[in-house]
Amino acid sequence: MAYSEKVIDHYENPRNVGAFEEGEDKHIGTGMVGAPACGDVMKLQLKVGENGIIQDAKFKTYGCGSAIASSSLVTEWVKGKSLDEAATLKNTDIAEELALPPVKIHCSILAEDAIKAAIADYKEKNAS
Ligand code: FES
Ligand code: FES
Repeated sequence: MAYSEKVIDHYENPRNVGAFEEGEDKHIGTGMVGAPACGDVMKLQLKVGENGIIQDAKFKTYGCGSAIASSSLVTEWVKGKSLDEAATLKNTDIAEELALPPVKIHCSILAEDAIKAAIADYKEKNAS
């Protein structure tokens, strides 16, 4: 199967790989999700400022090139966005940007799920 140039670029030069020291830090939201289709796992973290804007994002993905490229892309996309804006991110946008073939669509769904899980975690931490 041929990967698109954008997939290969993000795979070869992934942006924002790593993890934040989380601890009790309420400014960090962490999402960890797995893909039932293949068993790949993605951890995505958001660092949110007092103004509700995402300042930084990091990911670690145990998975295929498309999953790594999808998570790399979304960590770039969400920086500077509000949580509500980030929550509107669709896997179809990721799949389109990376020109993912149908069999790799679930890799982009993993990235959407990871963002949503990170946002949910952040909101839960900051709920009261
Ligand atoms: Fe091999 Fe996902 S299980 S790439
Ligand atoms: Fe499963 Fe890519 S093959 S995440």
